[in-house]
Amino acid sequence: MIEIEHLTKVFGQGQQKVTALEDVSLQVQDGDIFGIIGMSGAGKSTLLRCLSMLEKPTSGKIVLDGSDLAALSGAKLRAERRKMGIVFQGYNLLMQKTVAENVAFPLKLEKGFDKAAVAARVDELLELVGLSDKANSYPAQLSGGQKQRVAIARALATKPEILLCDEPTSALDPLTTKAMLGLLADINRKLGVTILIITHELSVVRRICGRVAVICDGRVAETGPVSEVFQNPRSDVAKQLLSEKEA
Ligand SMILES: Nc1ncnc2c1ncn2[C@@H]1O[C@H](COP(=O)(O)OP(=O)(O)OP(=O)(O)O)[C@@H](O)[C@H]1O
Ligand SMILES: [Mg+2]
Repeated sequence: MIEIEHLTKVFGQGQQKVTALEDVSLQVQDGDIFGIIGMSGAGKSTLLRCLSMLEKPTSGKIVLDGSDLAALSGAKLRAERRKMGIVFQGYNLLMQKTVAENVAFPLKLEKGFDKAAVAARVDELLELVGLSDKANSYPAQLSGGQKQRVAIARALATKPEILLCDEPTSALDPLTTKAMLGLLADINRKLGVTILIITHELSVVRRICGRVAVICDGRVAETGPVSEVFQNPRSDVAKQLLSEKEA
């Protein structure tokens, strides 16, 4: 289980001060597909960066399997971070490396992965995301949906328990979006990976998430099962999001 407790993140100081997250508390159960939805600038990416400890919270706790990540450092923090795979907003692929090399990259730092083991794992991952035929292509030669699949394969390379995805479908057309969500649902079902999806698209949440949190101005406006929040939204921001036409 992931427990986020009273998480606050402030960037800068004085006149430059931006409170990106304020007193955010959420729980994500193992095996869930959890949606985080909100307008641009609400703090969604900051939440994901704090969860993965790419960004140190200003205050509050992130408790993963009982240990508070904010209190860990060094080898212990690295061990907890290895439980998380991240798919970034905008892919973050290495453009000078092939698809296979991109997926292999996180394995370079792993113990027990010799050349043959890396090649076998890369094959397995590319098959999972349906890109076996693109192993030797470069990111520039791929479509947006294909790049996103490479990013997912790379995030899964070290067998994380949790997959954090920041806007995994925002650059994709409706059909490719559907295929991408199908892939994420498969990964959740087949590998038992807990998935956190950040999105501004209601349709994404409606299609695959079990629970959702609505974030507004750095705070949790409401959270609950998707069916409840969508049928009976309590917060203004959820009402506003729901009143917009769904793609
Ligand atoms: N490194 C940073 N330094 C200063 N301010 C930042 C930093 N990162 C984010 N912010 C600010 O924090 C707020 C939340 O940003 P964040 O990127 O988390 O929003 P978001 O919900 O992911 O938006 P979008 O949907 O556009 O991706 C914004 O006001 C942003 O300007
Ligand atoms: Mg963002």
